[in-house]
Amino acid sequence: MADTAQLSVDGDGVATVTVDRPDRLNALNVPTLRALRDAVEAAADEDARVLVLTGAGDDAFVAGADIAHMQDMDPQAAHEYAALGHDLAAAVEAFPAPAVAKINGYAFGGGLELALACDLRVASEQAVLGQTEIDLGIIPGWGATQRLPRLVDDETARRLIYFGDRLDATDAYEEGLVGDVVAHDELDEYVADLAADLAAKPATALAAAKEAINQSYETSLDAGLDFERRTWAGLFGSHDQREGMRAFLEDRDPDFE
Ligand code: COA
Repeated sequence: MADTAQLSVDGDGVATVTVDRPDRLNALNVPTLRALRDAVEAAADEDARVLVLTGAGDDAFVAGADIAHMQDMDPQAAHEYAALGHDLAAAVEAFPAPAVAKINGYAFGGGLELALACDLRVASEQAVLGQTEIDLGIIPGWGATQRLPRLVDDETARRLIYFGDRLDATDAYEEGLVGDVVAHDELDEYVADLAADLAAKPATALAAAKEAINQSYETSLDAGLDFERRTWAGLFGSHDQREGMRAFLEDRDPDFE
């Protein structure tokens, strides 16, 4: 794993993957994309119960794809670069536990796209977010044309992509881009508490909930409901289902796996 991506896993099973290229505001070049993909896979191998993605330093989550790297690419090289970004976003989206973007600063272009692949987004008050690619003469290439309209309404997504505006955290919250905005010096503690709460939930059920919600974007309503029914039924007989229901009936806290 290149040293531009760091992985740590705490005792509660909260894995934190940090983009560590602060001198470039954590812009994503090829080695960093590969290292992040490896880090996300390693977190899954360690059965992490929550994945937190963030950026090193005090200024940036991820300032986007690396513009210096992209500048002279031909379509073939651009295609390969896009595939690496898509692979990383797909790994985060399919991660078998909730993924939380801890947006500690700038989240532009591919940085915002990485956050869009997460389940939840928490922004510091000093964060600035935008799909800024239009002003570079390109469009988002790591998922925003598809994931952004699924997160916010269609016109908001179009406006963000067509104008490339940079939104402060409060505006991003009002547009539905992030679910929480917290004071910058409270971000670490806030996300740690959120992650610990998620890590205390029954992991198999959380993974099933995530997979079923993800399916809703892929299928017809009927097929999605069928997926939900099978996934729901498949949880019966698990330790956590038996324990959760028994604990309720015995009026005590559950002891999940
Ligand atoms: N790709 C490559 N390098 C980047 C970068 C990116 N996406 N974003 C920042 N950097 C580099 C800068 O070139 C600069 O390098 P230098 O020290 O060699 O000059 C360094 O990171 C610090 O950035 P700088 O622009 O000097 O900091 P700033 O505080 O004045 O501005 C931003 C910060 C994020 C507002 C500004 O860097 C920016 O707009 N970046 C591009 C954002 C973008 O459009 N991303 C989408 C890419 S698809």
